[in-house]
Amino acid sequence: MKSGTLQLFSLFLLVFLFAAAVSRADGFSGRGLNEAEKLSIRQRQLLYYRDEFGDRGEKAWKKAIVSDPLNVTGSWVGSNVCNYKGVYCAPLPSNKSLIVVAGIDLNHDDIAGFLPEELGLLTDLALFHVNSNRFCGTIPHRFDRLRLLFELDLSNNRFAGKFPDVVLRLPSLRFLDLRFNEFEGTVPSELFDKNLDAIFINSNRFRFNIPNNIGNSPVSVIVLANNQFGGCLPASIGNMSKTLNEIILMNNGLKSCVPKEFDS
Ligand SMILES: *[C@@H]1O[C@H](CO)[C@@H](O)[C@H](O)[C@H]1NC(C)=O
Ligand SMILES: *[C@@H]1O[C@H](CO)[C@@H](O)[C@H](O)[C@H]1NC(C)=O
Ligand SMILES: *[C@@H]1O[C@H](CO)[C@@H](O)[C@H](O)[C@H]1NC(C)=O
Repeated sequence: MKSGTLQLFSLFLLVFLFAAAVSRADGFSGRGLNEAEKLSIRQRQLLYYRDEFGDRGEKAWKKAIVSDPLNVTGSWVGSNVCNYKGVYCAPLPSNKSLIVVAGIDLNHDDIAGFLPEELGLLTDLALFHVNSNRFCGTIPHRFDRLRLLFELDLSNNRFAGKFPDVVLRLPSLRFLDLRFNEFEGTVPSELFDKNLDAIFINSNRFRFNIPNNIGNSPVSVIVLANNQFGGCLPASIGNMSKTLNEIILMNNGLKSCVPKEFDS
Protein backbone atom coordinates (compact mmCIF):
# COMPACT_ATOMS: atom_id res chain seq x y z
CA MET A 1 0.00 0.00 0.00
CA LYS A 2 1.35 3.41 -0.92
CA SER A 3 1.36 6.15 1.66
CA GLY A 4 -1.02 8.04 -0.62
CA THR A 5 -3.50 5.27 -0.09
CA LEU A 6 -3.05 5.59 3.63
CA GLN A 7 -3.63 9.33 3.45
CA LEU A 8 -6.75 8.80 1.41
CA PHE A 9 -7.92 6.26 3.88
CA SER A 10 -7.30 8.72 6.68
CA LEU A 11 -9.49 11.25 5.00
CA PHE A 12 -12.12 8.62 4.55
CA LEU A 13 -11.84 7.87 8.23
CA LEU A 14 -12.19 11.46 9.30
CA VAL A 15 -15.47 11.56 7.44
CA PHE A 16 -16.92 8.22 8.40
CA LEU A 17 -15.22 6.67 11.35
CA PHE A 18 -16.53 9.00 13.98
CA ALA A 19 -20.06 8.24 12.93
CA ALA A 20 -19.49 4.55 13.41
CA ALA A 21 -16.91 3.83 16.04
CA VAL A 22 -17.11 6.26 18.90
CA SER A 23 -19.50 5.12 21.53
CA ARG A 24 -17.54 5.11 24.72
CA ALA A 25 -17.03 7.82 27.24
CA ASP A 26 -14.79 6.15 29.73
CA GLY A 27 -11.67 6.95 31.69
CA PHE A 28 -13.30 9.09 34.27
CA SER A 29 -16.33 7.08 35.25
CA GLY A 30 -16.83 6.34 38.89
CA ARG A 31 -15.77 9.83 39.85
CA GLY A 32 -19.19 11.31 39.35
CA LEU A 33 -18.25 13.57 36.46
CA ASN A 34 -20.87 14.48 33.92
CA GLU A 35 -20.30 14.39 30.16
CA ALA A 36 -19.45 18.06 29.92
CA GLU A 37 -16.84 17.77 32.64
CA LYS A 38 -15.34 14.70 31.04
CA LEU A 39 -15.14 16.55 27.76
CA SER A 40 -13.44 19.55 29.24
CA ILE A 41 -10.90 17.34 30.96
CA ARG A 42 -10.14 15.46 27.77
CA GLN A 43 -9.75 18.55 25.67
CA ARG A 44 -7.63 20.54 28.04
CA GLN A 45 -5.16 17.68 28.43
CA LEU A 46 -4.03 18.24 24.93
CA LEU A 47 -2.67 21.69 25.34
CA TYR A 48 -4.66 23.80 27.66
CA TYR A 49 -4.70 23.64 31.39
CA ARG A 50 -6.85 25.47 33.88
CA ASP A 51 -6.78 24.55 37.55
CA GLU A 52 -8.24 25.88 40.78
CA PHE A 53 -5.81 28.78 40.67
CA GLY A 54 -7.26 29.91 37.36
CA ASP A 55 -5.87 30.05 33.89
CA ARG A 56 -2.14 29.54 34.02
CA GLY A 57 -1.88 29.02 30.29
CA GLU A 58 -0.03 25.78 30.82
CA LYS A 59 -0.12 23.51 27.83
CA ALA A 60 1.05 19.99 28.38
CA TRP A 61 2.12 19.19 24.86
CA LYS A 62 3.21 22.68 23.91
CA LYS A 63 5.56 22.64 26.87
CA ALA A 64 7.03 19.40 25.57
CA ILE A 65 7.88 21.00 22.23
CA VAL A 66 11.33 22.54 22.04
CA SER A 67 11.49 23.50 18.38
CA ASP A 68 8.75 24.48 15.96
CA PRO A 69 10.36 26.21 12.98
CA LEU A 70 7.09 26.35 11.00
CA ASN A 71 5.28 27.95 13.95
CA VAL A 72 2.56 25.29 13.87
CA THR A 73 1.92 25.65 17.57
CA GLY A 74 1.63 29.40 17.20
CA SER A 75 -2.10 28.79 16.84
CA TRP A 76 -2.24 26.66 20.00
CA VAL A 77 -3.59 29.47 22.14
CA GLY A 78 -6.74 29.65 24.22
CA SER A 79 -9.15 26.97 25.34
CA ASN A 80 -10.74 26.15 21.99
CA VAL A 81 -8.38 23.35 21.06
CA CYS A 82 -10.52 22.45 18.05
CA ASN A 83 -9.18 25.58 16.34
CA TYR A 84 -5.58 24.54 16.85
CA LYS A 85 -3.61 23.70 13.74
CA GLY A 86 -3.31 19.94 13.33
CA VAL A 87 -6.13 19.16 15.76
CA TYR A 88 -9.39 17.76 14.41
CA CYS A 89 -12.60 17.62 16.37
CA ALA A 90 -15.80 15.74 15.59
CA PRO A 91 -19.13 15.10 17.30
CA LEU A 92 -19.33 12.09 19.56
CA PRO A 93 -21.87 9.82 17.80
CA SER A 94 -23.35 8.69 21.09
CA ASN A 95 -24.07 12.33 21.92
CA LYS A 96 -23.78 14.65 18.95
CA SER A 97 -23.78 17.72 21.17
CA LEU A 98 -20.35 16.70 22.48
CA ILE A 99 -17.44 17.69 20.27
CA VAL A 100 -14.33 15.67 21.01
CA VAL A 101 -10.73 15.70 19.81
CA ALA A 102 -10.80 12.89 17.26
CA GLY A 103 -7.62 13.38 15.26
CA ILE A 104 -4.14 14.84 15.44
CA ASP A 105 -2.22 15.34 12.23
CA LEU A 106 1.15 17.04 12.44
CA ASN A 107 2.72 15.28 9.49
CA HIS A 108 5.79 17.01 8.03
CA ASP A 109 5.83 19.80 10.60
CA ASP A 110 9.51 19.47 11.60
CA ILE A 111 8.63 19.76 15.29
CA ALA A 112 11.11 18.65 17.95
CA GLY A 113 9.99 17.56 21.39
CA PHE A 114 8.44 14.56 23.07
CA LEU A 115 5.00 13.08 23.64
CA PRO A 116 3.79 13.75 27.19
CA GLU A 117 1.78 11.14 29.11
CA GLU A 118 -1.18 13.55 29.18
CA LEU A 119 -1.90 12.74 25.55
CA GLY A 120 -3.32 9.46 26.82
CA LEU A 121 -6.27 11.40 28.20
CA LEU A 122 -7.50 12.19 24.70
CA THR A 123 -9.58 9.04 24.85
CA ASP A 124 -11.58 9.73 21.69
CA LEU A 125 -8.59 9.96 19.36
CA ALA A 126 -8.96 7.86 16.23
CA LEU A 127 -5.95 9.19 14.33
CA PHE A 128 -2.54 10.18 15.60
CA HIS A 129 -0.16 11.19 12.82
CA VAL A 130 3.19 12.81 13.57
CA ASN A 131 5.09 11.56 10.53
CA SER A 132 8.30 13.47 9.68
CA ASN A 133 9.03 15.49 12.76
CA ARG A 134 11.83 15.34 15.29
CA PHE A 135 9.97 13.82 18.21
CA CYS A 136 12.19 11.80 20.49
CA GLY A 137 11.88 9.69 23.61
CA THR A 138 9.36 6.91 24.02
CA ILE A 139 5.65 6.40 23.44
CA PRO A 140 3.50 7.32 26.46
CA HIS A 141 2.29 4.34 28.51
CA ARG A 142 -1.06 6.08 28.79
CA PHE A 143 -1.65 5.66 25.09
CA ASP A 144 -3.28 2.44 26.24
CA ARG A 145 -6.32 4.57 27.06
CA LEU A 146 -6.83 5.40 23.39
CA ARG A 147 -9.41 2.69 22.91
CA LEU A 148 -10.56 4.13 19.56
CA LEU A 149 -7.15 4.74 18.05
CA PHE A 150 -7.24 3.35 14.54
CA GLU A 151 -4.12 4.79 12.92
CA LEU A 152 -0.83 5.43 14.69
CA ASP A 153 1.83 6.98 12.47
CA LEU A 154 5.04 7.81 14.31
CA SER A 155 7.27 7.36 11.29
CA ASN A 156 10.37 9.36 10.49
CA ASN A 157 11.06 10.74 13.94
CA ARG A 158 13.66 10.06 16.62
CA PHE A 159 11.75 7.77 18.91
CA ALA A 160 14.00 5.27 20.64
CA GLY A 161 14.02 2.45 23.13
CA LYS A 162 12.28 -0.89 23.16
CA PHE A 163 9.36 -1.76 20.93
CA PRO A 164 6.41 0.31 22.25
CA ASP A 165 4.40 -2.55 23.78
CA VAL A 166 1.55 -0.14 24.42
CA VAL A 167 0.47 -0.58 20.79
CA LEU A 168 -0.37 -4.21 21.57
CA ARG A 169 -3.05 -2.96 23.96
CA LEU A 170 -4.91 -0.74 21.50
CA PRO A 171 -8.04 -2.70 20.54
CA SER A 172 -9.02 -0.53 17.56
CA LEU A 173 -5.58 -0.16 15.99
CA ARG A 174 -5.33 -1.18 12.31
CA PHE A 175 -2.43 0.89 10.95
CA LEU A 176 0.88 0.89 12.76
CA ASP A 177 3.73 2.86 11.27
CA LEU A 178 6.95 3.02 13.27
CA ARG A 179 9.38 3.14 10.37
CA PHE A 180 12.47 5.37 10.32
CA ASN A 181 12.99 5.67 14.05
CA GLU A 182 15.55 4.32 16.48
CA PHE A 183 13.55 1.58 18.14
CA GLU A 184 15.70 -1.37 19.16
CA GLY A 185 15.62 -4.83 20.66
CA THR A 186 13.10 -7.51 19.82
CA VAL A 187 9.67 -7.22 18.28
CA PRO A 188 7.05 -9.02 20.38
CA SER A 189 5.45 -11.94 18.59
CA GLU A 190 2.03 -10.74 19.85
CA LEU A 191 2.25 -8.06 17.17
CA PHE A 192 1.45 -10.68 14.56
CA ASP A 193 -1.61 -11.95 16.44
CA LYS A 194 -3.19 -8.49 16.37
CA ASN A 195 -5.89 -7.59 13.90
CA LEU A 196 -3.74 -5.08 12.01
CA ASP A 197 -4.08 -4.17 8.36
CA ALA A 198 -0.66 -2.54 7.97
CA ILE A 199 2.61 -2.93 9.85
CA PHE A 200 5.58 -0.72 8.97
CA ILE A 201 8.54 -1.24 11.25
CA ASN A 202 11.30 -0.91 8.67
CA SER A 203 14.45 1.13 9.20
CA ASN A 204 14.79 0.79 12.94
CA ARG A 205 17.29 -1.17 14.99
CA PHE A 206 15.14 -4.17 15.76
CA ARG A 207 16.90 -7.51 16.10
CA PHE A 208 14.90 -10.71 16.32
CA ASN A 209 13.97 -13.96 14.65
CA ILE A 210 10.73 -13.76 12.72
CA PRO A 211 8.36 -15.78 14.92
CA ASN A 212 6.30 -18.75 13.78
CA ASN A 213 3.05 -16.91 14.38
CA ILE A 214 3.73 -14.33 11.65
CA GLY A 215 1.34 -16.42 9.57
CA ASN A 216 -1.49 -15.43 11.93
CA SER A 217 -1.27 -11.79 10.92
CA PRO A 218 -4.17 -10.57 8.74
CA VAL A 219 -2.15 -7.63 7.35
CA SER A 220 -2.38 -6.56 3.75
CA VAL A 221 1.03 -4.92 3.95
CA ILE A 222 4.00 -5.55 6.19
CA VAL A 223 7.42 -3.94 5.83
CA LEU A 224 10.25 -5.19 7.99
CA ALA A 225 13.17 -4.06 5.82
CA ASN A 226 16.39 -2.58 7.18
CA ASN A 227 16.41 -4.19 10.57
CA GLN A 228 18.42 -7.14 11.84
CA PHE A 229 16.27 -10.22 11.69
CA GLY A 230 17.81 -13.62 12.05
CA GLY A 231 16.86 -17.15 11.14
CA CYS A 232 14.51 -18.24 8.41
CA LEU A 233 11.09 -17.18 7.28
CA PRO A 234 8.69 -19.53 9.04
CA ALA A 235 6.54 -21.82 6.91
CA SER A 236 3.42 -20.24 8.44
CA ILE A 237 3.95 -17.28 6.13
CA GLY A 238 2.06 -19.32 3.53
CA ASN A 239 -1.05 -18.74 5.66
CA MET A 240 -0.87 -15.01 5.00
CA SER A 241 -1.65 -15.30 1.30
CA LYS A 242 -5.37 -14.67 1.77
CA THR A 243 -4.89 -11.11 2.97
CA LEU A 244 -1.31 -10.18 2.16
CA ASN A 245 -0.65 -7.87 -0.79
CA GLU A 246 2.86 -6.79 0.00
CA ILE A 247 5.70 -7.97 2.19
CA ILE A 248 9.09 -6.32 2.14
CA LEU A 249 11.92 -8.00 3.98
CA MET A 250 15.07 -6.69 2.32
CA ASN A 251 18.33 -5.97 4.16
CA ASN A 252 17.37 -7.98 7.18
CA GLY A 253 20.09 -10.58 7.29
CA LEU A 254 17.58 -13.35 6.69
CA LYS A 255 19.12 -16.55 5.42
CA SER A 256 18.15 -17.73 1.97
CA CYS A 257 15.77 -20.32 3.25
CA VAL A 258 12.49 -18.84 2.13
CA PRO A 259 9.99 -21.68 2.27
CA LYS A 260 8.19 -22.84 -0.83
CA GLU A 261 4.93 -21.55 0.67
CA PHE A 262 6.14 -18.04 -0.11
CA ASP A 263 5.85 -18.69 -3.84
CA SER A 264 2.19 -19.59 -3.73
C1 LIG B 1 -25.15 15.21 25.79
O1 LIG B 1 -24.22 16.15 26.24
C2 LIG B 1 -24.82 17.34 26.72
C3 LIG B 1 -23.68 18.32 27.03
O2 LIG B 1 -22.82 17.79 27.96
C4 LIG B 1 -25.66 17.00 27.94
O3 LIG B 1 -26.27 18.17 28.43
C5 LIG B 1 -26.70 15.98 27.53
O4 LIG B 1 -27.43 15.58 28.68
C6 LIG B 1 -26.05 14.79 26.89
N1 LIG B 1 -27.07 13.90 26.37
C7 LIG B 1 -27.03 12.60 26.60
C8 LIG B 1 -28.13 11.82 25.95
O5 LIG B 1 -26.20 12.08 27.32
C1 LIG C 1 3.37 32.27 15.18
O1 LIG C 1 2.00 32.22 14.90
C2 LIG C 1 1.22 33.04 15.76
C3 LIG C 1 -0.24 32.76 15.46
O2 LIG C 1 -0.47 32.51 14.13
C4 LIG C 1 1.60 34.49 15.55
O3 LIG C 1 0.84 35.32 16.39
C5 LIG C 1 3.07 34.64 15.88
O4 LIG C 1 3.49 35.96 15.61
C6 LIG C 1 3.89 33.68 15.04
N1 LIG C 1 5.27 33.74 15.50
C7 LIG C 1 6.29 33.84 14.66
C8 LIG C 1 7.63 33.86 15.28
O5 LIG C 1 6.13 33.91 13.45
C1 LIG D 1 -1.83 -22.44 8.81
O1 LIG D 1 -3.08 -22.28 9.44
C2 LIG D 1 -3.71 -23.52 9.78
C3 LIG D 1 -5.09 -23.17 10.31
O2 LIG D 1 -5.01 -22.18 11.31
C4 LIG D 1 -2.85 -24.25 10.80
O3 LIG D 1 -3.44 -25.47 11.16
C5 LIG D 1 -1.50 -24.52 10.20
O4 LIG D 1 -0.65 -25.10 11.13
C6 LIG D 1 -0.88 -23.20 9.70
N1 LIG D 1 0.33 -23.51 8.95
C7 LIG D 1 1.53 -23.20 9.39
C8 LIG D 1 2.66 -23.63 8.52
O5 LIG D 1 1.70 -22.60 10.43
